[in-house]
Amino acid sequence: MKKQISLFMIIILVLSSLLVACGKDNEANFKDNNSEIESYTLEGIKNKGKLIMGTSADYPPFEFHKMIDGEDTIVGFDIEIAKHIADELGVELEIKDMEFDKLLGGLSTGMLDMVIAGMNPDPEREANFTDIYYEANLSVLVNKEDESKITTLEDLEGKSIGVQIGTTQEEIAQEKIKDADVKSLSTNPDIVMNLKTKKIDCALMEAPVAESFAKVNEDIVVVEGLNIDTDANGVAIAVKKGNDELTEKLNEILAEAKSKGLLDKWLVEADELNNEN
Ligand code: ARG
Repeated sequence: MKKQISLFMIIILVLSSLLVACGKDNEANFKDNNSEIESYTLEGIKNKGKLIMGTSADYPPFEFHKMIDGEDTIVGFDIEIAKHIADELGVELEIKDMEFDKLLGGLSTGMLDMVIAGMNPDPEREANFTDIYYEANLSVLVNKEDESKITTLEDLEGKSIGVQIGTTQEEIAQEKIKDADVKSLSTNPDIVMNLKTKKIDCALMEAPVAESFAKVNEDIVVVEGLNIDTDANGVAIAVKKGNDELTEKLNEILAEAKSKGLLDKWLVEADELNNEN
């Protein structure tokens, strides 16, 4: 009996070590294939036939959700740019809708090939940025009934200010507005909801975004003539740090699209999509 058990044990041991060896072999092959070309480089993207874009689709007119033919669709200015880039590269576009503050992490792990999300090319951000494809100032959103109470930057002092987590607006609110009670929320529609229900006094957003929300929400307005100076008033496409060849290619594509008037056209179309019901 004892002998039988130990024979059995030996067989099991031999079999399992064989299995482990096979597994290692596969893993090594997989790594070898992968280490030749990283999937997020220009060549890697062409090889896989797919461009994976990360965005945070809560930011009209740059990217937002819209029901089209009964289907929840992600649309907007940045989405048209991404589609055009995929076409130019001759690959499919895959969109991953994520929280804004997770996007840069997605680039550094290689899960995303590029991020187009109305993102400011802040030098402190761990990424390569393309040239700026759109310039935007900052605006303040308030409830219509408070329009006369908030007209200058000083009027914001001590107020509760809604901003999106991980954005430059969050930093600006904390740094530039005295005694601000900064409420960091995960999406822009959340900020608007908090404003409309008076849980916050105002919201800080890039001008076209603030205007987009004001256009479809009658009870909130953009404070006229109140522009907040920032160092980062343009948006660019982000790719993984050091992914220079892709950055250059994207700059070429952007420059050409701009010279053909496509960028302007896509922005107008995105605005129209946001404004129609
Ligand atoms: N431009 C700001 C930044 O880069 C905010 C961008 C938010 N984008 C979005 N899709 N929610 O921090």
